[in-house]
Amino acid sequence: MKIGVLKESSGENRVAMMPETVASLKKLKTDVLIEQGAGTSAFVADDYYRDAGAIVVSRSEVIEQSDLLLFINPLSSGEVKTFGNKKVLVGAMNPYFNKELVSALAEGNITSFSMELVPRISRAQSMDILSSMATVAGYKAVIDAAMNLSKFFPMFMSAAGTIKPAKVLIFGAGVAGLQAIAIARKLGAVVEVFDVRSAVKEEVKSLGGKFIEVEGALEDAAAGGYAVEQKEEFKQKQSMLIHEHALKSDVVICTAQIPGKRAPLLLKKETVDKMSPGSVIVDLAASTGGNCELTKNNETIVHHQVKIIGKSDYPSDIPSDASSMYAKNQLNFLRLIIDDNGSLNIDFNDEIIKGTCLTHAGQVYHSRVKEVLNL
Ligand code: NAI
Repeated sequence: MKIGVLKESSGENRVAMMPETVASLKKLKTDVLIEQGAGTSAFVADDYYRDAGAIVVSRSEVIEQSDLLLFINPLSSGEVKTFGNKKVLVGAMNPYFNKELVSALAEGNITSFSMELVPRISRAQSMDILSSMATVAGYKAVIDAAMNLSKFFPMFMSAAGTIKPAKVLIFGAGVAGLQAIAIARKLGAVVEVFDVRSAVKEEVKSLGGKFIEVEGALEDAAAGGYAVEQKEEFKQKQSMLIHEHALKSDVVICTAQIPGKRAPLLLKKETVDKMSPGSVIVDLAASTGGNCELTKNNETIVHHQVKIIGKSDYPSDIPSDASSMYAKNQLNFLRLIIDDNGSLNIDFNDEIIKGTCLTHAGQVYHSRVKEVLNL
């Protein structure tokens, strides 16, 4: 079987496969075709892929000759329509917000697997691209905040006096939030954290953060470790406490999310109005509306001398490691659908395969996506 890797469109520095993954796929008895220049922005020259055993060719040759195509960002529906019906696609397809692409894949009779749909179960942890990319984003959000803050993060005792450590407030202690706590602490900041799941309290403390309790949070064991929408009374209580703590903070990192919903609105305009001049807010939830009322997706704005960064593509800023993590997650998924002879062998009874499959046999296979997109 031939596996093809497509170059990402401009603005994205990551690549779906690194040379070490090529070597692993060769061991699985598959051939690997890489689009010319696919790794350039991640600092991987074509020759590195050749040395690992891949063949480097043009985009049209990759598409024409491959049985299975790999990529990170969603392809255009127009391009997918030119693929014919024999290909299998594996990539991140942003399915809940991409009706045109999902329809084109189903109509084109293409079997596609959307890596964001990998179920969050322990057997699939090694394939979880969302966790990998949230880890990168949590790290980079803190670095970005430190770069933009007009103060030090750590405490300093110097001949010129004592510098107080920066105060960092973090919303959400999931994958990105926990990483942000760890990095902010490593840089010497004092860290406070809000979350609605009591299970994260000990993790926050073990990383050196202070968990701010808000009584009465709704939790649902059936939500699989994710948060659920809160009642109005809780929201008001939380909002007052957030207001109080935000006014004492130099940096706010926003990572709170409820899957499939708009990001919870936690930092109101009237709070930002009163934050100290020079403070920095990094809103990782910008693409789903933001935790801060003033966030603009993929923009940095300044409001009353407070900088609000709404960047949604942090993983692209660390292309080497982000690509490496993505490629390893993807390789672990490919091992499920490729047998020892290097042939495709898709077992639709496997929970992970079933949960990740987006389209198959001319249908939208994923029932939740089908329902949400009304297809
Ligand atoms: P996650 O689901 O693991 O964590 C979210 C956390 O928010 C959970 O612990 C949850 O309990 C908490 N939460 C929910 N509602 C809350 C509320 N009202 N108050 C306080 N906490 C609340 O999500 P993950 O993987 O950590 O991702 C976090 C965000 O980062 C997502 O919005 C994701 O899309 C985004 N992200 C952004 C990137 C970027 O480049 N900007 C890259 C990757 C992810």
